[in-house]
Amino acid sequence: MTWSVEVRRAPDPGRLAADVRAGLAKTPVEIPPKWFYDEKGSQLFDEITELAEYYPTRTETAILVEHAPELPHVGTLVELGAGYSRKTRLLLESVRPALFVPLDVSEEPIRDAATRITRDFPDVEVRGIVADFEDELAPLPGFDGDRLVAFLGSTIGNLTPGPRADFLARVFRATAPGDLFLLGADLVKDTDRLIAAYDDSAGITAAFNKNVLHVLARELDADLDPDDFDHVAVYDSEHHRIEMRLRARRDLVVPLLGLEWRISEGEEILTETSAKFQVEGLRAELAAAGFAVVTTWTDAAADFSLTLARRV
Ligand code: SAH
Ligand code: AVI
Repeated sequence: MTWSVEVRRAPDPGRLAADVRAGLAKTPVEIPPKWFYDEKGSQLFDEITELAEYYPTRTETAILVEHAPELPHVGTLVELGAGYSRKTRLLLESVRPALFVPLDVSEEPIRDAATRITRDFPDVEVRGIVADFEDELAPLPGFDGDRLVAFLGSTIGNLTPGPRADFLARVFRATAPGDLFLLGADLVKDTDRLIAAYDDSAGITAAFNKNVLHVLARELDADLDPDDFDHVAVYDSEHHRIEMRLRARRDLVVPLLGLEWRISEGEEILTETSAKFQVEGLRAELAAAGFAVVTTWTDAAADFSLTLARRV
């Protein structure tokens, strides 16, 4: 079968500049996590998924192995934030779509997945989309009411509550009554395990976090040395979320976007929040966005969840 990639919105420096300007006005300074994912960042995340401490990927895979066969056949499988679409083969085997649509802000993993999937699933056409899921998602390819939209890996957790509701509203607008939505979400658990998952002993998550500094240096010509920062992962038990930060090891003055960004020793830049959910809360968010929850599957230890909902 054929594959193609439509570039709807390449991650351009203009957009990064706008995000950085907005982030510099906040305390702490924030850089949105989507900027981790250049080719190197996507590869580093792929390495994270193999780490002993990073339980989400293998747990979600196990839930899919057990429950994906319960999903109905659909004409189109759409995957948001698809990355390398490694778990997706479990969905492809179960829902047997004619069309697979991986959407991601990072192009290289989509191309990689498209070639692998067309080789391994000769009956499936792959139409990749390079886009930002914080933009409008419509039009999504495929027949209305005969689609499954998957959003795996707990990437929903990288959105804070307001943007999360906006995201669910965009999924609602881009789907039709009868379409299914499959949402993977990490669950609240022991703090030590959470911290270990975001501060692994091999230092891969630290490299992933610091990759955003390489992106800033390259795309915005910023004189930033990643070695001037330490990787920090903390758990905010009030908001039930991991925060990844970059802590300056010394005072820095960084010329950037025509200004001088002054960073004090010990100051932290917030690069990612990763929410940990309670199943009921997540189901309520889906219902508020207009989805009828069909079922939630978890592993036996209730570490991770997959919720299936129908667009009403
Ligand atoms: N779904 C895969 C990958 C998760 S990593 C899994 O479950 O393992 C998060 C993915 O979302 C990355 O591939 C990243 O490039 C993508 N992503 C992050 N922010 C995005 C955005 N705003 N729009 C589109 N894709 C985004
Ligand atoms: C993609 N996302 C759900 C990952 C997470 O767990 O929040 C990104 C990540 N950050 C550090 N490790 C993995």
